[in-house]
Amino acid sequence: MPLVSPKLLRATVIALVLILIVALWQFQSNTFQQLSHLNHINGNGDNGNINENGASSSLTAVAAGTIDWSRFAYVQYVTNTAYLCNSVMLFEILNRLQSKADRLLMYPSSFSVDTEDDSTESKLLRKARDEYKVKLVPILVQSRSGGDSTWAESYTKLLAFNQTQYDRVLSLDSDSTILQTMDELFLLPSAPVGMPRAYWLNFAEPVLSSQLVLIQPSEFEFKRVMDAISSASSRDYDMEIVNNLYKDSAFILPHRPYNLITGEFRSKQHSDYMGNSEEQWDPEKILHEAKFLHFSDWPVPKPWVPASPSVIQGKQPTCDMNLVTGHEDNCRARDIWLGFYDDFARRRMYLSERESDAR
Ligand SMILES: *[C@@H]1O[C@H](CO)[C@@H](O)[C@H](O)[C@H]1NC(C)=O
Repeated sequence: MPLVSPKLLRATVIALVLILIVALWQFQSNTFQQLSHLNHINGNGDNGNINENGASSSLTAVAAGTIDWSRFAYVQYVTNTAYLCNSVMLFEILNRLQSKADRLLMYPSSFSVDTEDDSTESKLLRKARDEYKVKLVPILVQSRSGGDSTWAESYTKLLAFNQTQYDRVLSLDSDSTILQTMDELFLLPSAPVGMPRAYWLNFAEPVLSSQLVLIQPSEFEFKRVMDAISSASSRDYDMEIVNNLYKDSAFILPHRPYNLITGEFRSKQHSDYMGNSEEQWDPEKILHEAKFLHFSDWPVPKPWVPASPSVIQGKQPTCDMNLVTGHEDNCRARDIWLGFYDDFARRRMYLSERESDAR
């Protein structure tokens, strides 16, 4: 007589197989949950192809839900009141869109955050800190006399390399609008610097744009940057410095969707932005996929500077031929472009109205 009856043996085998199937099924459904979490991190998930190329360690952390977002920050720098206002407007957007990384504002140490101080600067700083969860870091504005005054203080941006309390920061120019969060950029493979191309510049050699820079702060890189500033020629500003230092080692962030300029909607030539000459330019589609939009419309002034109606009239995007009606009444690009300036003005107004009762 065998130790175990064939019947019992068969029952045991079937039970084991069943247990194995259930275990496998559970493992799979966990994986699915992790993947949907990944989509969530990518914002609305419709152009989230960045993470799939990301470092496997980041992917593992995403999957396990163990990302420590406080190691990352969106960073802005401020040199004067107008730009402080712009920065607070961007932080308002990040707060509204519930971005996950920290928010850091480098502001001139001459500004005060004292409750007693009722200057515009002081109120805006407190508002950023208290309502938009912004960490405030006082700094000395880095400047150089001579040259173009618009850019003379742009070196200050490079102090982001000194924010070594973070593993990675995303520096955004504040004369811009954020259309979608960009948290996924913090999970890209390690590199000192990542930047998009200045796709609108038609040089023989591609130039990197410093409007959006992904930085791994470090003492070593900060020293390199500071040395480059002190030996820079009078025509070299932040963009030249980062290009000189990093053009051959930075990884290139796709300018589509991370670095759209408003002037694209006035342009008649879109293949540089699109990345190919076959795809149809569709202003609504491009707006929908874009994440970061920079105001750049020379000779139309920056959106907080009053523009004469004749400049707007003369420089706004034209209406295109409507293939259905046969008239030039396709004004989608114009409507979208005017909408950028309108949206900026409304947010600016909102901030200055609220600023008067901020404490
Ligand atoms: C760089 O960071 C250190 C540590 O926070 C600080 O002491 C120093 O003043 C910073 N340097 C500049 C130029 O801001």
